[in-house]
Amino acid sequence: MVEGSVAEELAGGIRRARARYVDLPMMDEPAIPFIGVYEHAKTREWSKLIGQYDGFVLVFPQYNWGYPAVLKNALDYLAKEWQGKPVSLVTFGGHGGTQAQVAMRLVVVGLGMTQLAVNLQISLMPSDSVAKADRLLHTHDQEAALLRQDFENRLG
Ligand SMILES: Cc1cc2nc3c(=O)[nH]c(=O)nc-3n(C[C@H](O)[C@H](O)[C@H](O)COP(=O)(O)O)c2cc1C
Repeated sequence: MVEGSVAEELAGGIRRARARYVDLPMMDEPAIPFIGVYEHAKTREWSKLIGQYDGFVLVFPQYNWGYPAVLKNALDYLAKEWQGKPVSLVTFGGHGGTQAQVAMRLVVVGLGMTQLAVNLQISLMPSDSVAKADRLLHTHDQEAALLRQDFENRLG
């Protein structure tokens, strides 16, 4: 859930994600996730974590017009845990990540998720200073507020 400024919320999101880090190898479950029977403890841990959320904001960089392989791998591990839940895509990269969002849209639809109307594209480079990144992120504050509203409307 995004609230307050994008900068504060993304920083908070990163802290939360690190606190709940699950180290997943390349997908190695013997059965397809749709069946929902997981052999490995790490998959069950991932399933429990994701299953408890009502919706998601996926924050990811664009790599060569696509999404990072590690994100796709994490999504591929599960099925019912994603289904029917709202998702917003927040991308960043030299040009904001338009193409990565287009590519990921197909994946989230395939997982049975509902994409929100508000999705952010943030133009950022690793060479940007912290001050510049902070300024850039704040230009998205209004969109972040809309994103929050969109989530609240979906989740009631
Ligand atoms: C392999 C690679 C490919 C990239 N391709 C794109 C691209 O197609 N479009 C874009 O806008 N930025 C691209 N970038 C820039 C990244 O989105 C940007 O550097 C981002 O900050 C990387 O996030 P990370 O540090 O978490 O990996 C690319 C970066 C890498 C490393």
